[in-house]
Amino acid sequence: MPAVRIQHVLIVDDRGDALAAYIAARRADLVCRVRTPTTLTEADPQWADGLVGFTTPVSLERSSIRWVHSTGAGVDGLLSTGRWPEGVTLTRTTGALGARMAEYCVGHALAVAQRIIPFHRDQLAGRWAPVEPGTLKGTTAVIVGTGSVGSAIAAQFGGLGCSTIGVSRAGQATPPFDHVRPVGRLADTVSGARWLVLAAPLTPETRGLVGAMVLAGCRDTVVINVARGGLLDTTALLDALDAGTVTGAVLDVFDTEPLSPDSPLWRAKNVVITPHVAGVTHVEEAGAAFLEALTHLESDRRPPSAVDPARGY
Ligand code: GLV
Repeated sequence: MPAVRIQHVLIVDDRGDALAAYIAARRADLVCRVRTPTTLTEADPQWADGLVGFTTPVSLERSSIRWVHSTGAGVDGLLSTGRWPEGVTLTRTTGALGARMAEYCVGHALAVAQRIIPFHRDQLAGRWAPVEPGTLKGTTAVIVGTGSVGSAIAAQFGGLGCSTIGVSRAGQATPPFDHVRPVGRLADTVSGARWLVLAAPLTPETRGLVGAMVLAGCRDTVVINVARGGLLDTTALLDALDAGTVTGAVLDVFDTEPLSPDSPLWRAKNVVITPHVAGVTHVEEAGAAFLEALTHLESDRRPPSAVDPARGY
C-alpha cells in the first residue's frame, strides 16, 4: 500500500464540527473543512485528500480523495455512491459499538421474555393477570454476522445461558459462538431460534437475506434487526407475524430512514421500533479511529480498520 499524504480533510457528517475540533486538537497540521450534504460544493472533492462521513453524496471519481474514513461501522452508505475507485482506501469506526449493540439486543430480548410491555399494558388497564415470564436461559439465539458486533451479541446472550449459533459466509467456527453455520443453511438453522438477530453488513449478498423462505422456517421467533433494513424483507416479516412463525420483532434499522409515517410496521402487533440508536458511534470513537488509521497510512501500512470495498466489509 503506497504511503498516503493527507493534508486536507473534508468532513460531511452531522457531527462534523465536533469531529473537526477533535482532530484539530490532536493534529494541528491537518486542515478540516466541514460540510453538510446541502453546503457541499463541487470544488470540495477536488480540494480534499481525505473524506470523513457516513452516508455522503461525494463522488470520488475525478476527485483528489485518496482515503475515506467512515464515522460508523457499516460502510454501505459510502459504497452506494458508485464504483469504488482503484487506490482509494476505505476505513471504518467500530469503537465500543459491539458492546452497546449487544446490550440493546439483550435488553429487548429480556423485555420480551419478561413480558415488560404486556405487564405494563395490564397495569395501565388496572388488570391483575398473572403469566409466568420466560427466561433467556435455555433458549437459542441465531445471530447473522459473526464479526465484532455479532460476536459481542453472542457473548451477552451466551452469558445469560442461551445457546448461540452464528451464521456467516463460510460457516467457520468462531468464538464465542457455540456453533457457526454457513449462510446457505440459514433457512434450516432458524427453526429452533427464539431470537433471530441480524448483525451483518449490508452487501449485495446480504440484501434481502431474511425473506419469506427464512421467516417461514421460524417457530415462535423474535427477529431483532440492528444491522440494516435491507437485510430483512419487510413484507415477508409482516406476513410471518400474521402467520405466527415470527411472534415479535425489534427493529432499529429500516430501508428508508426515518421510517415513513405510512409504514405498516408502526402499527404491527408485537413490533417494537427504535430510531437507529442501537449502535451510535461517539465523536471520540470516530476521531480516534480516524487518527489511528491515518498513522498507518502515513507510514505505508494497511490500517487494521480497512474495509475491502469489493466485499463491502
Ligand atoms: C451504525 O449504523 C453504524 O454502521 O455504525
